[in-house]
Amino acid sequence: MNVLVIGGAGYIGSHCVRQLQAAGHKPVVLDNLVKGHRASVPEDVTFHEVDLGDAATVSKILKKENIDIVMHFAAFIEVGESMQDPLKHYENNVAKTVSLLKAMREAGVNKFVFSSSCTVLGEEAKPPFTENMPLRPISAYGQTKADVEVILHYCTKAYGMSAAIFRYFNASGAAEGGMIGEDHSPESHLIPIAIQVALGQREKMMVFGNDYPTPDGTCLRDYVHVDDLSRAHIAAFPLLEEEGKLLTYNLGTGTPASVLEIIKTVEDVSGHPVPYDLAPKRAGDVPAAYADSAKAKSELDWTPKYGTIRSIIETAWAWHQSHPKGYEDA
Ligand code: WQD
Repeated sequence: MNVLVIGGAGYIGSHCVRQLQAAGHKPVVLDNLVKGHRASVPEDVTFHEVDLGDAATVSKILKKENIDIVMHFAAFIEVGESMQDPLKHYENNVAKTVSLLKAMREAGVNKFVFSSSCTVLGEEAKPPFTENMPLRPISAYGQTKADVEVILHYCTKAYGMSAAIFRYFNASGAAEGGMIGEDHSPESHLIPIAIQVALGQREKMMVFGNDYPTPDGTCLRDYVHVDDLSRAHIAAFPLLEEEGKLLTYNLGTGTPASVLEIIKTVEDVSGHPVPYDLAPKRAGDVPAAYADSAKAKSELDWTPKYGTIRSIIETAWAWHQSHPKGYEDA
């Protein structure tokens, strides 16, 4: 299949591009490089530096590259920023996705894979999270993802388009071999921050809250390897052959880990101490979020290859150790 990967120079998109190549597909990347890294895209992949809101150019690319499927990873993901500047998130994540869907209609491309998030389910949901729980996001960011999920519901009904929605839990890790990995600016995610402490780039880190109703008092999350996420997306391609299909999957390992377990594992894997201070709870954090991925397992025959946090953190450590400044070192 010829696959247009929008946001293909970002963290999850760039891993998906390599998995697409490994599975015999032909990825073409479209990215405006606002957040993405040109160095994360392989030399032999066609790259278009274009904003996804530029419908005329996107439509031309869809036709010229003879695209069969569009995968859409491009979004602003900072929850805090979304609360301070919601319109920035609505414009990028919702308005530009509408523009993209219109460009697809114009070009006659009707298969779509969308990168959503467990945050669409909000704080009332009780883990493990299944796909049929109601959409109740508590941030503008989460709402933008929920909005696109609803838009896809109507588009698949109205236009015969078929779409697969994947809700990620905590995407983490890096490709085998340490060539590509996670490089956000600013970094807010737990595993890369703990690794930066292990590397001596930060003196210490903060643990946000230790009196949650969890075994060690710190938050439980479901860390899932970025290559496992990518494989699930590709496994859905055959199901998109049926017109008007809308598929939704939660993707996680289903085995949660606490903040302190992650810190301890980073210490074990790196061989360096990771000192931390206890800090107040971070606004918007829920005590526990982990997936029930039974649907992806049965319908997509998907099982995460990286089933333990240690195996995930080993790949993240390999990337950060060989690229301490991220893609600046690439
Ligand atoms: C994990 C845990 C923190 C940093 C993220 C995205 C969210 C969604 C899912 C995309 C929490 C704690 C963190 C630190 C800490 N992704 N922590 N000290 O918030 O679970 O969710 O992935 O849609 O949008 O934000 O991930 O890595 O930020 O935090 O104690 O310095 O680690 O409080 O309990 P999160 P995270």
